[in-house]
Amino acid sequence: MEAVIKAINVRKYFPLSVGIFSAKKYVRAIDNVDLELYSGEVLALVGESGSGKSTLGRVIVGLQKPDAGEVLYRGHNIYKLNNSLAKLIRHKIQAVFQNPDSSLNPRMQIFDILSEALLTKNPELSKAELLDGVVRLLRTVGLSDDHVFKYPHELSGGERQRIAIARALSVEPEVLIADEIVSALDVSVRAQVMNVLMDIIDKYRLSVIFITHDMGLVWSISDRVAVMYLGRIVEIGPTEEIFKSPLHPYTKMLLVSSPTASSTMAFKDLRFKARGEPPSPIDPPKGCKFVTRCPLADERCNVIDPQLNGVSENHKVACIKVNS
Ligand SMILES: Nc1ncnc2c1ncn2[C@@H]1O[C@H](COP(=O)(O)OP(=O)(O)OP(=O)(O)O)[C@@H](O)[C@H]1O
Ligand SMILES: [Mg+2]
Repeated sequence: MEAVIKAINVRKYFPLSVGIFSAKKYVRAIDNVDLELYSGEVLALVGESGSGKSTLGRVIVGLQKPDAGEVLYRGHNIYKLNNSLAKLIRHKIQAVFQNPDSSLNPRMQIFDILSEALLTKNPELSKAELLDGVVRLLRTVGLSDDHVFKYPHELSGGERQRIAIARALSVEPEVLIADEIVSALDVSVRAQVMNVLMDIIDKYRLSVIFITHDMGLVWSISDRVAVMYLGRIVEIGPTEEIFKSPLHPYTKMLLVSSPTASSTMAFKDLRFKARGEPPSPIDPPKGCKFVTRCPLADERCNVIDPQLNGVSENHKVACIKVNS
């Protein structure tokens, strides 16, 4: 399958401000990650808070330059583009985040918010064409024409999130990074927005990175799952395989701890019930990053830093207990 996005050996460390005489310290948000997003797939990115999901999303969408490594869109390094290509590729990769309030200008009507986005793609559009485009976008996300001249504060949270999705669609993207886009919504609205999203993915043939904590959503929307722990991908594979026979002890922990996943998944080994907190990303363990919480760890895990290895063509895991 063809990769639309290829992240190669990507690293993003955030420097901590410490005293001038102490050694410089870093939050290792993303630590040498490789990831491919195939054309037309939905790849779920899961992992506890602070594991680096949003940072990886921001690096892939072009918002946060990595310290090392490359992000390729169809072979082009998105951080090394000439001007004409930069604009085109910026449109191809769009993101929607958890909180639309911070990205929708409260002083602009929906018409202006969406027109502004449409004009970045096609500056020649007339007022009538813009109105037509805005109405079309609103319908695509399941909103009526009544919303055209409203302000963001006149909309519900779910409606605002639909506007954020409509704005992302306005530039005809190929890749969508959806970072916790329904997490702040209540359950009934969450289902409606998810349905809109799934229709749009189909209709526009989007390739999607879907970041979430909700394993139930992962099950219903994604083709593949990548599991992150302390800035690393520790397991990646087809959704059904991950849910039925997870291999990494951390993936098992996530599944056992998830109330929504337990109804759909085959895996229910309670030895893997969540214990402890993740260690600090400033000073992670030397060997396996999961060693401090792993029920299977032995002394080798304190020293060997396991790399992602293929257990089958599409399924990879970083754990010496599985790989050896
Ligand atoms: N701009 C920043 N400056 C300093 N540290 C940061 C910055 N952004 C993220 N971090 C740190 O990087 C690590 C990864 O953060 P990130 O937001 O990517 O995690 P996440 O998996 O998205 O978490 P959550 O599920 O809570 O959204 C965290 O330790 C976080 O505190
Ligand atoms: Mg996040």
